[in-house]
Amino acid sequence: MVSASNQRSRAATARATTATQGDWLRWAKPLAFAASLYPLARLVLFGFTGNLGANPIEFITRSTGLWTLVFLCITLTVSPARRLTGVNELLRLRRMFGLFAFFYVMLHFATYVWLDQWFDPMSIGKDIVKRPFITVGFAAFVCLIPLAVTSTRAMVRRLGRNWARLHKLIYLIAVLAILHFWWMKAGKNDLLLPQIYGTIVIALLGVRLLWWVKRRYAAR
Ligand code: HEM
Repeated sequence: MVSASNQRSRAATARATTATQGDWLRWAKPLAFAASLYPLARLVLFGFTGNLGANPIEFITRSTGLWTLVFLCITLTVSPARRLTGVNELLRLRRMFGLFAFFYVMLHFATYVWLDQWFDPMSIGKDIVKRPFITVGFAAFVCLIPLAVTSTRAMVRRLGRNWARLHKLIYLIAVLAILHFWWMKAGKNDLLLPQIYGTIVIALLGVRLLWWVKRRYAAR
């Protein structure tokens, strides 16, 4: 009798917790979506008010590149944050942040192809082959495409276990993105930001490695 009422009360608490977390997500998701549009809104505003600086193409390329990296880092932060806080709903924001990383890299790449290279395929091809920082940036971009294409619920269902395997590419993408940034800034002797982002990415990947080792150890 006591245990049945305990069970009922536990189930009620679980339902209440889920409802509270659901409520929390209802406003957090649109808020995160609106905040994620800030980099684009800022660029548009600067464009219309003539505040893109002396070299607007460079400004747009650098801004979209940096925001791509920021969204990659945010996407990689979601899983550790969920594990530390126990708030499973955080995972539902992960796809959105990942897609924003893809959105900003598309803008980044489009700026390069259109405003920097004027749609010249020979020049673009040569650049990708000859400049290592462009080579790794391009590789990161190509790797992001299958992740964006398979981000829908239908694709998650269709690919099953292979979906998780494929999405491990995000780790390689993060490393390539840091290399791209590092290589670009190394030529300018300005490594502070790449070092900061490199440390963040190493920490985020390091936490996962630790958990993986712990899981393997526990399984034995
Ligand atoms: C996931 C993919 C990518 C990420 C995360 C990324 C990130 C970045 C970052 C952080 C910067 C420097 C921003 C700053 O100076 O503050 C940058 C610059 C740049 N990126 Fe990317 N990028 C990516 C892909 C690409 C691709 C595919 C291309 C072209 C094929 C490209 C071309 C460039 C160029 C031309 C610059 C500016 C160089 C300069 O101003 O001297 N990036 N990128």
